[in-house]
Amino acid sequence: CGICGVVGYQPATPIVFEGLRRLEYRGYDSSGIATVNHGQLSRCRAAGKLDNLKHALEETPLTGTTAIGHTRWATHGAPTTGNAHPHQAGQVAIVHNGIIENFSELKSLLEAKGRFFETETDSEVVAHLLDEHIQQGMPPKEAAFATIRQLRGAYAIAMIFEGHDNLLIGARHGAPLAVGYGNGEMFLGSDSLALAPLSNRITYLEDGDWCVLTREQVEIFDATGNAVNRPVQTTSLSTGQIGKDGYRHFMEKELHEHPVAIGQTLQRIIDPVTRRIVLPEMPFDVANLSRATITACGSAFYAGMVGRYWLEELARLPVDIDVASELRYRQPPQPDRGLALLISQSGETADTLGVLRELKAAGQSIVSVLNVEHSTMGRESDLVLGMVAGPEISVASTKAFTAQLSVLAALTIDFARKRNLIDEQKERELTDSLLDLPSHALEVLNLFEQIRTMARVIAQARDVLYLGRGICMPVAQEGALKLKEISYIHAEAYAAGELKHGPISLIDQSVPVVAIAPSTILFDKTLSNLQEARARGGRILVFTDAKGTERLKDVAEHVIVLPDVNAFATPILYAIPVQILAYEVALLKGTDVDQPRNLAKSVTVE
Ligand code: G6P
Repeated sequence: CGICGVVGYQPATPIVFEGLRRLEYRGYDSSGIATVNHGQLSRCRAAGKLDNLKHALEETPLTGTTAIGHTRWATHGAPTTGNAHPHQAGQVAIVHNGIIENFSELKSLLEAKGRFFETETDSEVVAHLLDEHIQQGMPPKEAAFATIRQLRGAYAIAMIFEGHDNLLIGARHGAPLAVGYGNGEMFLGSDSLALAPLSNRITYLEDGDWCVLTREQVEIFDATGNAVNRPVQTTSLSTGQIGKDGYRHFMEKELHEHPVAIGQTLQRIIDPVTRRIVLPEMPFDVANLSRATITACGSAFYAGMVGRYWLEELARLPVDIDVASELRYRQPPQPDRGLALLISQSGETADTLGVLRELKAAGQSIVSVLNVEHSTMGRESDLVLGMVAGPEISVASTKAFTAQLSVLAALTIDFARKRNLIDEQKERELTDSLLDLPSHALEVLNLFEQIRTMARVIAQARDVLYLGRGICMPVAQEGALKLKEISYIHAEAYAAGELKHGPISLIDQSVPVVAIAPSTILFDKTLSNLQEARARGGRILVFTDAKGTERLKDVAEHVIVLPDVNAFATPILYAIPVQILAYEVALLKGTDVDQPRNLAKSVTVE
């Protein structure tokens, strides 16, 4: 979900509405705005996309210079207008992001006091609790503090109050919230994207913090109620970075940003003169590491899977890897001298953040690979390795994936060197293969049309199999995930060698097989697996290089030829056409590419 709020002197509804537009990627199944005007609260809400709220606002305009708004990704309660935020109770209106874990307890308590609940959401209890304290005579600030002390779970909340035009209160615990400073106006937002055109001076609240905003000042308090000073950061994010630049979708734009995202990320970690990796000093002795645990969710998890292959093969570091939601409760024994490697575009994903905290408590060194470096994970890590992908708005991750891989590749080279496993020549060869990637990525961007031909086959299918081996197996998984996410076609990824142990029974004319098969040492093995599929009538579609094409003549129906790259760099390059394929299929299917149903970009609940 996304939150935006303003206390100021100009009409607040358009400001908050535009903020919600920039936050829509965080959730878009319903939305709403509430204002306080001459002491009176009013609100307007709508189910579905933000455009529905726009129409609703045309019919019920909201006036006032103080407002809060919300765009929702439903957890408790269906995405209806009735369940949309803001929630209002008596003299207060609130918006909430997260999950209130003790909501049923609180609800019973409040119902016993005669309160009537209008929605099925957990968030409505916050409004009632807050109003309960107000009714008991507490001033808003005290009522807000009393309320948040009763909440368990994760939340970012913004609150406004009847009779108080010059007041906006925010609180965060486990879900992000930032304050933006203006002249005669102050803002709240879920992230710097929401605040970008409003203010370039931002304070990220810490967990447990709450803040009281008026037109003139910002006061921040910690969980115990003590006033605290939090750093004000100057952001350089411009609104230009968050437009579509003439592309039809953010996803299309972000696919075209692969070369820049890879290039900028590498520029930060490879010295241009010596062409050697220059990562920040690690807070541990790399040579002495015993094991790494890698975790993440979604696409970032598949980047981690590639990282496992790299670190094990080249840096000889044993790796345990699992999706964050599993690892968190698996309680595997943690070794001495262990490293935890967390990968996240947003740095806010609740599952990944939960593991970070578990592993930190278990004495592991925490290194995070993040796109948003000032995120919660960024602040709680021992070291952040930043990717420089720029804002990623489309819900399905694209350029952040190749930027994550670029960082992990550099980390692998760095570790291999520090563990005395590669000589200078090998190091140079690996680093050069990374440095060649931006220009190869540019070449891949010329392949949209060819990939569209392949997409026509996929668009007719109900099920698709993706195959890969070794470091390209996670690329197959990324391809299958992307296809599911944005085209709603069922896809499964398999290690090519595993095909014969099960999924081969699915193969016929109607189940296309997409293979990620660069002509590396494993090519012949994959080719055999594809022949097995072809012999059973499967339609074979392959991403390979010039050398591979020759060998695939009698097997594949469509072959997309990619530039030759060192085997080490293949997952980074091959991820791009695989994502383009999903995009092209989604276009043919006419789905909502940037905001696929039921998904959200930044999932701050478990
Ligand atoms: C959501 C998004 C995915 C993303 C995943 C992890 O599920 O829809 O695209 O890969 O979260 O997000 P993170 O910000 O941690 O990389």
